[in-house]
Amino acid sequence: MIVLGIETSCDETSVAIIEQKENDDFGNILAENTLSQFKKHSKFGGIVPELASREHENTLNILVQKTLNKAKINLKKIDAFAATTGPGLLGGLLIGSNYAKTLSLANNKPFISVNHLQGHILVSRLKKKINFPFLSLLLSGGHTQLLIAKKYNKFEIIGETLDDALGEAFDKTSRLLGYGYPGGPIIEKLALKGINTNFFKLPKPLLKSDDFNFSFSGLKTSIRRITEKPLNKTLQYNLANEFQECITEILIAKCEKAINLFKKKMNLQSFILAGGVASNKFIRKKFDFLCKQHCIEFIVPEKKLCVDNATMIAWAGIERLNKIKKSDSLTMHPKPRWSLEDL
Ligand code: KG4
Ligand code: ZN
Repeated sequence: MIVLGIETSCDETSVAIIEQKENDDFGNILAENTLSQFKKHSKFGGIVPELASREHENTLNILVQKTLNKAKINLKKIDAFAATTGPGLLGGLLIGSNYAKTLSLANNKPFISVNHLQGHILVSRLKKKINFPFLSLLLSGGHTQLLIAKKYNKFEIIGETLDDALGEAFDKTSRLLGYGYPGGPIIEKLALKGINTNFFKLPKPLLKSDDFNFSFSGLKTSIRRITEKPLNKTLQYNLANEFQECITEILIAKCEKAINLFKKKMNLQSFILAGGVASNKFIRKKFDFLCKQHCIEFIVPEKKLCVDNATMIAWAGIERLNKIKKSDSLTMHPKPRWSLEDL
């Protein structure tokens, strides 16, 4: 089975072609092309939805052709067309899903509607056997959720952010320090040059709360106050370092509690870190250590599969097609808001 996937929910236009051979559990990436728009948006300090839509519109067709060429196949060889249909920015979702629907109609092959967050989590199964149920922490630009994945399409959210997503907190911290977008990789680099002296005494909201929820808006307010006065480079590096340690401590505390509570009860054998923030080396290392301590397998995709990409969309399409062998309706509408509990 060969599936072409399209991702246009945010500021990356991405197309991938994945093959799954008969009787094989895994997928093979035949080709992937991702075009990031971050340069177009960085001067605005965040994503401008209308600009994103126009860029998707201008580049998607070219990218599909390029990806087919790279995979050395033509459209006739594609068995299904998958596209992100939510959550995300409506303009981009419409462009990607309409493109996939048109290809599906013209080639008489199924159209698969894919939830972007499901793609982030399932992509870990592309090359590795991971049994359900497993625990997963999804950290992206718009979502921070701790989940139990029970089946490929059944997720239970046990905790989530009550305000900002973690990626957003990275992006805002970078902006407040006078740097660009996306903030995650910038903060990660700055933090490497600094040390955590606990000088700034950043708040750790909900660290000791009884639930699995997160809150990052207080942290943002605190950083805004700190950066009202200009900081020299050393202080900037130390603030980035302290920020990264602070949020990691919160994530680890919540996940450790979830592992203690659910590992035995639900026979969880794996913990999956997913989403753009999961590409952060410091966070990955801390989670690797946590999972070793608790004898639970730690899995995180390689960096380029953590950030937005179409491989995860094509793969989620394959997982769905393996279970339900029919097309989604071509009249379905994209859903800018779409919970993983409503698949
Ligand atoms: O999953 P993703 O690529 O897109 C969404 O679905 O939102 O996540 C994007 C987020 C951005 O906020 C970006 O700053 C953050 O992931 N990010 C990182 C790193 N790379 C990307 N955060 C921390 N460290 C990184 N290395
Ligand atoms: Zn994403």
